[in-house]
Parts: sequence; structure tokens; C-alpha cells
Amino acid sequence: MELFDTHAHLCDERYGEDIDEVIARARDAGVSRILLASAEMSDSEAAIRMASEKNGDVELFCSVGVHPHSASDYDDQSHELLSGWISDREKNRIVALGEIGLDYHYDLSPRDVQKAVFIRQFELACREEIPVIIHEREASADMLAILTDFGKRGLLSETPGVFHCYSGSAQTAQILVRMGFLLGFDGPVTFRNNKKAWEVLSSIPLDRILIETDCPYLTPEPFRGKRNEPAYITYILVKIADYLGKSPEEMARITTGNARRLFRI
Ligand code: NI
Repeated sequence: MELFDTHAHLCDERYGEDIDEVIARARDAGVSRILLASAEMSDSEAAIRMASEKNGDVELFCSVGVHPHSASDYDDQSHELLSGWISDREKNRIVALGEIGLDYHYDLSPRDVQKAVFIRQFELACREEIPVIIHEREASADMLAILTDFGKRGLLSETPGVFHCYSGSAQTAQILVRMGFLLGFDGPVTFRNNKKAWEVLSSIPLDRILIETDCPYLTPEPFRGKRNEPAYITYILVKIADYLGKSPEEMARITTGNARRLFRI
């Protein structure tokens, strides 16, 4: 089996000491590729470094970008730095721009700032023709309005990116799928009574499903409450495969293929 963890925060300080063991366990679990996701300028820089330094048996790639939580910190200098990294993306092993988006659950940055910073980074991604990793929480109306506007302006590519850790409705999922997006699924699919996730998963085409751990967060059962890591992606895979009536091998082939198409790897 060849698995691809499409969203892992391995630059998080919780992996400082045992990062090599974490990557080795991922390899032993069948994970052959990991996308190091970023949320700040500082961890974007760290992800670029880690993606080249630790690239080995497990192929490492990264994304760069600023999360809505930190939108207030995004300035012209960040934008210039981000543009520079992306224009040199092969050397930097960058395959996506993100996490970017809107989070009205925590509202850690003012909403108008979140919107402006999301639009600015998304425009950069469209210009550079690089997929985006979108984080959206309790902001679907504003998100859809922005995406519709991008569509009208002719900026959306055929496959603009992924809605990471998708937690919205099946109805919104249909709209996003029509726009060309993929949806990422994480540990919560292993939690009991996650009816919403099943409704979404059974209503979208198989070629729109990505699996991701979002580690160190969102640890799947049976390790819920502990630190998450890429090796645990197998629990997400098995659960989704089981639900959709596929074998884990087939589900692995489908989701890894989807990830490689989206990130052009
Ligand atoms: Ni994340």
C-alpha cells in the first residue's frame, strides 16, 4: 500500500525530539509521501527546510501560507517572501499554498482582515497556478461568495485545491465539488456518530476524496487524546474504505492517486 498524508504539521514543536522516529513509523505503516502543511510564515520557512533535509524513504513536500488565525500578522513583507518561495517552488519542494481561508469559530483575526488576506494569497496561487489548501470553519457563506467571485473573474483553475478537514454540509460539498475542489478527511471520521462526514463522503465522487492526519491535531481512534502522527492515517483510510464498501488497498490507490493529481507529483 502507498499512502499519502496530505496534511501534516511535522514542524510543530511536539515533534522536536523524535521526528526521525515519526517519519520511520510512517514509512512502516505504508506512508510513502507526506505534505508538510503550514499556518504561519515561520513554519512555512521551517517546512521548506524540513522538506529538503528530511526527504528520504518517505518523500516530503510542503505548503506555505498564512492561516486565518494569523491573518493580522500578514503584511507586504510576508507577501513578498511567500511569492519568492513559490516562484522557486521546485527547489523548495512546495506543492501548494496554504493553509489559507476563513475561521469564524475562533475569530482570532478580524473577519475583514481574514477575508482580505485570504483573497490576497488566493490570487497569488491563481497567478502562480498552484493549488490551495483551504481552512474554513463556520464561514461558508463568505467563503462561497469569494469563490464565486473568483470564478466570475476567470481565476479558478479546473482543480483549484482542497478543503482541508472538511466539516461542512453535504449540500456545500456539492457546490465545492462542482467548482473543482477536493475534500480532505481526517481523524474525526473515526469518531463515533460522525453522521455528517458519512453523508458528505457518500455524496461526492471518489476522485474528490483526500485523506490527511492534520497531525499533531485530530488524532483518530483508538489514539484519541494522544499526539497524532502520519502513521495513524491508516485508521482514517480503513474507516473510509469500510464505509464506502472498498478494500483498504483500493481506497489507498484512489486517495493517493487523487493527491498526486492535485499536487502534480
Ligand atoms: Ni492543519
